[in-house]
Amino acid sequence: MDRNLALELTRVTEAAALACGRWVGKGNKMSADDAATEAMRRTLESINIQGTVVIGEGEMDEAPMLYIGEKVGSGQGSEVDIAVDPLEGTNICAKGMNGSIATLALAPKGGFLHAPDMYMEKIAVGPAARGSIDINASPTENLKRVAEAKSCYIEDLTVVILDRPRHDKAVAEIRKAGARIHLISDGDVAPAVAAAVERSGIDILMGIGGAPEGVLAAAALKCMGGDMQGRLVFMTEEERRRAQGMGIDDFDKVYTCDEMAQGDVLFAATGVTNGDLLKGVRYFSGGAETHSIVMRSKSRTVRFIEARHSFDFKPVY
Ligand code: FBP
Repeated sequence: MDRNLALELTRVTEAAALACGRWVGKGNKMSADDAATEAMRRTLESINIQGTVVIGEGEMDEAPMLYIGEKVGSGQGSEVDIAVDPLEGTNICAKGMNGSIATLALAPKGGFLHAPDMYMEKIAVGPAARGSIDINASPTENLKRVAEAKSCYIEDLTVVILDRPRHDKAVAEIRKAGARIHLISDGDVAPAVAAAVERSGIDILMGIGGAPEGVLAAAALKCMGGDMQGRLVFMTEEERRRAQGMGIDDFDKVYTCDEMAQGDVLFAATGVTNGDLLKGVRYFSGGAETHSIVMRSKSRTVRFIEARHSFDFKPVY
């Protein structure tokens, strides 16, 4: 994988964030998502890759752009698979709340788990707690192990979990064990990545969220030396059939980071609204400022990029 692609990918997530950043707080999640998707699709065209979208905006008949199977890139360069979420956290962007990002990841052909659009149970931690998590163990047991790995008390740990009724039992158990909880209304990719950033104040992501988002988070954690486990959660027979169609036969399988994102992986994200991981887009007269993270699993270099964009010279925004 060409390491220069990392900066190119940042341009793509910046473009998506700058486009949907105009929709922050406007109460229109569809338009925000469309703006991000269109900008991401357009910017990808200038990148020298022969890319195939494997995690995208939906099936070909559901999404006009960045659908699963769509070919993207200039058509030159390496053959790669792409996982995209042009606007992760559409509701939070529409409401102007914290935590939405524009994100994508790139792997050699066949590198990503083809996760269907369904739920996944997840547990994710940073490098300091690598090897200590077990999705089959209780939240209490996982907290004990992570606290031990990080040489701290359970009370020092902060767990991020989506604020959903399906998590009521886990939330009660985590509280009883003594850990702090950060409930989020949407957007569980950024907090999974934040768990691997020491200064973020996030230690663990737990709970059930989207499976495609799980693969994006796994790509990021792999680049950072973090750890994640995921297990698909089947709600209907139809979901089982769809998963089988995507090559998944073992419905109880626990996927590791490396199984969800194989080979030399690149990950990039740009903040749309402020969050624990990244600041959101800030517009000013004639331009805007963006905050991004970009990384590559081969070198494990993690870059935070603060960029100033001048619209007089980049009028596309
Ligand atoms: P969007 O697709 O609207 O961006 O929502 C994303 C998300 O909040 C993910 O971050 C999360 O994994 C999933 O949706 C949770 O799904 P649900 O809202 O059904 O609990």
